[in-house]
Amino acid sequence: MAAELYPAHIQHMQHLAREALARENLDGLVIHSGQSKRMFLDDNHYPFHVNPQFKAWCPVTDNPNCWLVIDGVNKPKLIFYRPDDFWHKVPPAPQDFWTAEFDIILLTQANAVEKHLPFDKARYAYIGEYIEVAKALGFEHVNPDRALHYMHYHRAYKTEYELTCMRAANRIAIGAHKAAELAFLAGKSEFDINLDYLAAARQGDNQVPYNNIIALNEHSSILHYTVLETQAPTESLSFLIDAGASVNGYASDITRTYTTSTGVFADMIKGVDALTVELAGKLTPQKSYIETHLQAHTGIAILLEEFGIVNLPAQDIVAQGITKTFFPHGIGHMLGLQVHDVAGHVHDDRGTPHPAPAEHPFLRCTRDIEANHVYTIEPGLYFIDSLLAKLKATPQSQYVNWDVVAQLKPFGGIRIEDNVIVHATKNENMTREGGLN
Ligand code: GLY
Ligand code: MN
Ligand code: MN
Repeated sequence: MAAELYPAHIQHMQHLAREALARENLDGLVIHSGQSKRMFLDDNHYPFHVNPQFKAWCPVTDNPNCWLVIDGVNKPKLIFYRPDDFWHKVPPAPQDFWTAEFDIILLTQANAVEKHLPFDKARYAYIGEYIEVAKALGFEHVNPDRALHYMHYHRAYKTEYELTCMRAANRIAIGAHKAAELAFLAGKSEFDINLDYLAAARQGDNQVPYNNIIALNEHSSILHYTVLETQAPTESLSFLIDAGASVNGYASDITRTYTTSTGVFADMIKGVDALTVELAGKLTPQKSYIETHLQAHTGIAILLEEFGIVNLPAQDIVAQGITKTFFPHGIGHMLGLQVHDVAGHVHDDRGTPHPAPAEHPFLRCTRDIEANHVYTIEPGLYFIDSLLAKLKATPQSQYVNWDVVAQLKPFGGIRIEDNVIVHATKNENMTREGGLN
């Protein structure tokens, strides 16, 4: 399916390249996949992570020292690294659904790339991380702003090929989330739950798009908890899992929260879950994503009132800034080749800044929502020690039922995160439609 859609994706990329080049008054782009990074005073290497601008064209995500030469008109050229090396696995010459879209040259020595690059580089730009390499090769234009702003901005509009990859990335993660839920119910440790997740996804720690968050009990209140305790707790009360999968370089990013208890916390999970579905359904073209974030604060305030955590009407809970203690992050972000996809904080394709509002500094996207954008929606409600301590020191403390907070603190927190495609006339919640409730 993705295979049939790929030629149109490349046509679209060529169109974007032509415009980016015209804006920069250049003839072409030379996009570097990257290099393998050696650890300090060691002969081991860090896991390789490809330049996202490279994988936007070509779904080769695991091979350093590859290059693309793009002029927006001629067939893109792929210089594919295939060293003569008996220490490591050498990738086979590529033969896949995407290969017909490139003129492919095999490169046996990383430092012999120059003869395959344009001779006169004055009107070509290097796009990549290795500035010294670019300079040594004779590039004057390195990651030029106008071209990059343009390419980044337009990455928000996904092609049909990209949407197909992202649906597949959701399906893989959904199967793995179900395996992780079973592992939680079996009382396994965070470490073992992670193993079950990865086994079900058939993806390793370095293939999934970000470090899985697998948090039991109060660990769920640590927003980026990645420790993975090997010992199971005496009692597993609650489980927050934020984990995705990768397909052809595209990410899914899904969070669920579970509990073994049948009390208030279970009902709160249902409340946050309903809020996720509601907000995902309300993403509509022309609406600002900031508005979605503000609606999430209202939704969290309603839950804080309903569950007797704060003794104020919901609108006052928001007005007094109390929701920020319990929901301290943004409602979500654009999703694609990167988990936090680029260009969330710009007004236009020239890169005019549109930063997060001062009172919501962690909001990762301020753009107006448009068709073919893909967003996460991830409201949360947490009991975070440091933020609760700050709230306790303010006059607003009087409105908080601290005994209810104390009862709920051992559960840590809740986040429910779905991945949503905005179409012109409807939304597609890939996570729900893929079968994860
Ligand atoms: N997994 C990171 C995030 O949800 O933004
Ligand atoms: Mn996430
Ligand atoms: Mn996310």
